[in-house]
Order: sequence, then structure tokens, then C-alpha cells
Amino acid sequence: MIEFIDLNREQPYKIFLNKYQQALEKKQKNIEAIAISSFNPKTDEVESRFVNLKYIKDDQWIFFSNYNSNKAEDFAGHNQITGLFFWHQTNTQVRIKATLQKTQSGFSDWHFSKRTKEKNALAISSKQSQKIDSFESIRRGYEEVIKDEELLHQRPNYWGGYSFVPYYFEFWEGQKFRLNKREVFEFDDNKWKTYLLQP
Ligand SMILES: Cc1cc2nc3c(=O)[nH]c(=O)nc-3n(C[C@H](O)[C@H](O)[C@H](O)COP(=O)(O)O)c2cc1C
Repeated sequence: MIEFIDLNREQPYKIFLNKYQQALEKKQKNIEAIAISSFNPKTDEVESRFVNLKYIKDDQWIFFSNYNSNKAEDFAGHNQITGLFFWHQTNTQVRIKATLQKTQSGFSDWHFSKRTKEKNALAISSKQSQKIDSFESIRRGYEEVIKDEELLHQRPNYWGGYSFVPYYFEFWEGQKFRLNKREVFEFDDNKWKTYLLQP
């Protein structure tokens, strides 16, 4: 689930909330899963992965990850991303373009303190995206951390939030006979402009 906090009142946010609620009513699983595509200027490659979007706070869309991961390296070199939701229960795709930054450390601390110790043990013990010799070594690292109450209370500085502010939304509605509706909102000249695209 995504937590909405003082949601921005502009039109694309209202439409997003409405579509989210429709998908939720239809019991869409993994409704908070968003595929984030990033570009790495060093390798000249684009990569995508799912993350769980935890909050939309006003116009800030927030997820959490490891600050030394592959995606973190991409974001450090190129802070523009594309995000993509697909909710099959309502045949809805939402595409978002945005620029991204790390959240304030206080916000990451607050979120870390609300999580289960199992989740935090993994956040602490995982050197996300690095190569390992065996899965067993991951399990050992996790089991060491989960026993260490002191360590579990402290958010490591290599784990925290990313927030992005969209400048582009595309709401795609799958319809009969492929007469799909594509409605775009683009932030330009300090206001949202809207138009439709061919399916
Ligand atoms: C549904 C789903 C949700 C996920 N949520 C997160 C998340 O919130 N944060 C995260 O770091 N990884 C999450 N992952 C794992 C990522 O997809 C990815 O494997 C990991 O972040 C490493 O990506 P990277 O090597 O590109 O940095 C999730 C995976 C799935 C399938």
C-alpha cells in the first residue's frame, strides 16, 4: 500500500489517487510496486527494477533502498528516471517521468524506526547489488544482525529514502478493440498541460 500524506491537489495527483483507489477496490496485488528505469552515463546503459513506493507526500514520491546499490550509482550520475505502474485488475498503466534525490536523513530515520526488525536486519546486512560467493553467506550475515539489538536500532548511512517529483504523467487505460486511452499531463511553464496521445 502507498501512504498518502497531504497529497498535492493538482489534477494529475487527483487522477492518480482515483485510479489507485479503483485498483485497490479490485484487490490489486503489489499495488505499490513501481518499475524504476535509470540511466548510467558511465556504462551507457539503461536498467529497470521494481521498488515499493511507500509514500506520496505532497508532490514527493518516496521509496527506500541501499545507497551503494547499482541503482544508487545510476541516480548519482543521472538523476532523471521513469517510473511505471501496471495494475492488471483495472488494466491501467501509469508512466511517470521525474528527477530524483535522496530524502532528508530524518525522514529515513523515521521510516526505519517504523519497520520490522527483520526488514531492518536485511537492510543492514545486505551489500545490495554486490557479488557474493554463496547464498549461505547472506543468511549468516542476516542472522548475526538480527541478534544484535543495538545495531538494529541504528539506520545505517548506506540505506535510506529517495524521493522524486514528477514532471510528466501518462495515464493509460486499456479499452475494448485496443481503443486505449492515453492521457498526458506535462509540467511546463509552471503549470500542468494536458493532451491525449494516439494509442
Ligand atoms: C515487488 C518488488 C518490490 C521491491 N521493492 C524494493 C524496494 O523497495 N527497495 C529496494 O531496494 N529493492 C526492492 N526490490 C528489489 C529490486 O527490484 C532490486 O532487485 C534491488 O533493489 C537491486 O537493484 P539494483 O541492483 O538495480 O540496485 C523489489 C523487488 C520487487 C520484485
